[in-house]
Amino acid sequence: MKLGLFDSGLGGLIVTRAIHAHMPDLDLVYLGDTLRVPYGNRSQEAITGFTKRAMKFLFAQDCQLIVIACNTASAAALRNLQQEFLPAFYPDRNILGVIIPTVEEAAERDFGALGLIGTSYTLQSGVYDDELQKIAPRTCLIKQATPLLVPLIENGGMPWVEDVLRSYLSPLREEGMEGLLLGCTHYPHIKAPIRRVLGEDFPLLSQDEIMPAKLADYLRRHPEHDTALSRTGTSRFYVTDLTESYATAAREIFGEAIHLEKAEI
Ligand code: DGL
Repeated sequence: MKLGLFDSGLGGLIVTRAIHAHMPDLDLVYLGDTLRVPYGNRSQEAITGFTKRAMKFLFAQDCQLIVIACNTASAAALRNLQQEFLPAFYPDRNILGVIIPTVEEAAERDFGALGLIGTSYTLQSGVYDDELQKIAPRTCLIKQATPLLVPLIENGGMPWVEDVLRSYLSPLREEGMEGLLLGCTHYPHIKAPIRRVLGEDFPLLSQDEIMPAKLADYLRRHPEHDTALSRTGTSRFYVTDLTESYATAAREIFGEAIHLEKAEI
């Protein structure tokens, strides 16, 4: 059986690439919901509905375990999926999100004021505030919704990213943030311009650096999932809408040419 990875679009390819580099033998299936991206300005009901369809697709592709790489989908749907959907339909499989592993990492780094950027949904949901409060009550979040970044990254807007980042991040800097949590799948792709704006050594919490070790640790602690996963080093990449520009963006984001297949979900 395989490890599934899900994102609302193509940004999850960055975490997928990092997991693949860490555990190259694991058989992977990626699904990006390019037909419905962006999720970040939609309602909880809509995001949960889209995410359930994606989970059904990935389980039908023989996935034992799915990582929801999308912060927005993790914030909106994960609790419902774990408490109702899995017990009812897939009691022997599991779905993980990115928020708790990221918060655990933030807690270890023990920031006072931590900047958080992400979609409007992720920030408004308060999920990062709630989870941090549980394990790192000393850390206070300085939040900034950054809805222009995903459209720029997915549509060839990299030349404009640095200017947009400057106007988003300067107020956080002025408020005294000591580190920045990149709370969206796509943002590891713009670490270089973020560093140009904030300084080379500014501490960043980036999920492509956090998730591979967290997943490996989860598999060590859960042999029932670990032993079910096949390890022949194959990867398949599905999207719900397939265009030339998505193929180009996927190549740019993943860092090498990958073959995208169309999924009907
Ligand atoms: N993948 C989403 C996330 O991580 C961002 C893109 C979207 O709005 O769908 O939050």
